[in-house]
Amino acid sequence: MNDSPSSLVSCHSPRVTIVGTGKVGIALAQRIAEKNLADVVLLDIVEGMPQGLALDLMQARGMELHNRKIIGTNNYADTSGSDVVVITAGFPRKPGMSRDDLLLINAKIVVESAKQAIAHSPDAIYIVVTNPLDVMTYLAWQATELPSDRIMGMAGILDSARFQTFIAMELGVCPSDVNAMVLGSHGDLMVPLPRYSTVNGIPITELLGESTINRLVERTRNGGAEIVGLMQTGGAFFAPASSIYVMVEAILLNQSRLLPVSAYLQGEYGLKDIFIGVPCRLGCSGIESVLELNLTDIEMNELRVSAQAMRKTIDNFI
Ligand code: NAI
Ligand code: 2OP
Repeated sequence: MNDSPSSLVSCHSPRVTIVGTGKVGIALAQRIAEKNLADVVLLDIVEGMPQGLALDLMQARGMELHNRKIIGTNNYADTSGSDVVVITAGFPRKPGMSRDDLLLINAKIVVESAKQAIAHSPDAIYIVVTNPLDVMTYLAWQATELPSDRIMGMAGILDSARFQTFIAMELGVCPSDVNAMVLGSHGDLMVPLPRYSTVNGIPITELLGESTINRLVERTRNGGAEIVGLMQTGGAFFAPASSIYVMVEAILLNQSRLLPVSAYLQGEYGLKDIFIGVPCRLGCSGIESVLELNLTDIEMNELRVSAQAMRKTIDNFI
């Protein structure tokens, strides 16, 4: 075996393209670079902006102790050969707006971004973030014609993180001791699952009363709007960026993590031809499998209602 130093060094630096370098995109770029996960390409429609942001992040490298390359561009040719492409291009909600209000305006942006990105990175795994999330993921899937295991949406990790936070705050425990599970579409019809949410293995149904759990569930459903209402300009971006990071890391490090993501269903949970949040095993090939939980009739009905609303939005749009 040749064990000279050169044979131990891999020349391939993983490369993540982030399309849309607004608040979510740039917070994600910072996490990826500063956690030394991958090189980053920032692409935005605004000229100069991604280039400036990239230079700023590059100038922090000596202090943040990493040597990742970050480039900014307005040209998809510079994104070539990416391992993961994250689409955050589009507009966030204004106060009082629902995610669906964003549909028309963001659909054009996402379809165009997805088509351009796939032309230069045909082998990448795609993560859609733009809202309304599950519909945008469906449209990006159609636009790219990717196999469905290589394209997915980010929302369930964020919604679960919010549920996790509210449970931890209520019980006065460390959030990392709490495992929360939220399925369904990213919106008012998401399906938080208290039965599958635990504190170090103890179901929260044994630790909290029904009315408290209902209050936390409602706050979770309203989690994005609560922040939009407080900030008045734009929406959440720190926890969204952390949530996308978890997915990118699971893919690039082939972690086979079990995470709720918006995935294409082909009969699982009795649902077909739809992207919706379900627990998936995520690794280097993308979605390795979809886990079918045992749901009660009430939980299953909530998931169906969530899926039906999603289907109706897609049918009305296409
Ligand atoms: P932002 O307004 O800060 O950034 C959006 C960026 O997209 C801007 O820099 C804009 O120039 C760029 N952009 C617009 N059209 C483009 C195009 N054709 N090509 C390339 N770039 C383009 O918005 P923010 O806060 O970063 O949110 C981005 C999207 O992500 C929104 O739709 C928001 O609702 C969604 N979001 C989804 C979450 C989820 O859980 N799935 C969580 C947080 C945000
Ligand atoms: C959120 O849930 C806006 O969808 C975004 O924060």
